[in-house]
Amino acid sequence: MNNDLLHYIKTIPKCELHLHIEGSFEPELMFEIAKRNNVEIPYKSVEEVREAYNFHNLQSFLDIYYAGATVLLHEKDFYDLTMAYMKRIHQDNVIHTEIFFDPQTHTDRGVHFDTVINGIHQALLDAKKDLGISSKLIMSYLRHLSEDDAIETLQMAIPHRDKIEAVGLDSSEVGNPPEKFKKVFQMSRELGFRTVAHAGEEGPTEYIWNSLNQLAIERIDHGVRSIEDDQLMTYIIDKEIPLTVCPLSNIKLCVFDKMENHNIKTMLDKGVKVTINSDDPSYFGGYMVDNFVATTNGLNLSKKDIFKICENSFEASFLSRQEKDVYLRELDQFRIS
Ligand code: HPA
Ligand code: ZN
Repeated sequence: MNNDLLHYIKTIPKCELHLHIEGSFEPELMFEIAKRNNVEIPYKSVEEVREAYNFHNLQSFLDIYYAGATVLLHEKDFYDLTMAYMKRIHQDNVIHTEIFFDPQTHTDRGVHFDTVINGIHQALLDAKKDLGISSKLIMSYLRHLSEDDAIETLQMAIPHRDKIEAVGLDSSEVGNPPEKFKKVFQMSRELGFRTVAHAGEEGPTEYIWNSLNQLAIERIDHGVRSIEDDQLMTYIIDKEIPLTVCPLSNIKLCVFDKMENHNIKTMLDKGVKVTINSDDPSYFGGYMVDNFVATTNGLNLSKKDIFKICENSFEASFLSRQEKDVYLRELDQFRIS
């Protein structure tokens, strides 16, 4: 890649819409927190941890991802995790981010919901003040657990409603269809939460349709399998339903065999509102700039493509119209005529 294009990618203002905070847990910080909490981890070194990050599908990743999260116990741990991510994306010129957190990963281990959200939320307040990065939180239900478990989680979130913008759905997709969570999504909407869901990462297009029709989601997380269904493509183009695509994640989890075969550029050219995001950057080989560079290299994206993807992200965010316009004016300086 030439320096001019790399400079463009690095400096263009970015918005991240698909990031699991537990997936930004770098091995160095994992060791530090494990030590101060006196928790054993089954690795001898940071290098050994990184060597374990070889996945063949979503589940093989999730097993390691949930294991890594077990060292998080105290409010300060969640604060440190979140602040490390915010400082890292500051280097990538990310100016707005919408962050997933998985409360059940922690409450199931006896960590209080308040401990999790208060640590994350304080870091987001400090990052706004010190780094100028705005953010929203998306509480994600774990789809391998029951709907009743998700409803209990929603109830724990009610006192913290002002800190949470939306609810989402993640974890093991195949075998856990969206309709399993119809009731909790309806309850969440009635409480004023906006809605997104992972769909069509490994699961079939039917899961994308049912997320749209039965969960009334506003954005599709991943959604790369949409391309298999022409009617679905027409629908998401006409209704301008955004997809939060995570290119490096898709390669690491073998959704595509190599970046050259990723479908994000085809979907962009067809008029789908695609965005680029890092998903679980500590596990998948990189943050936002890394994702833009790898995608640009693999698919020959032009500056115009990159601009459009960034524009899509701000448009697809949960910011108000007025806030979006402020960011879009800043982005406009990067427009390619
Ligand atoms: N898919 C499903 N669940 C997840 C992911 C993902 O990419 N990352 C963290 N939890
Ligand atoms: Zn994800």
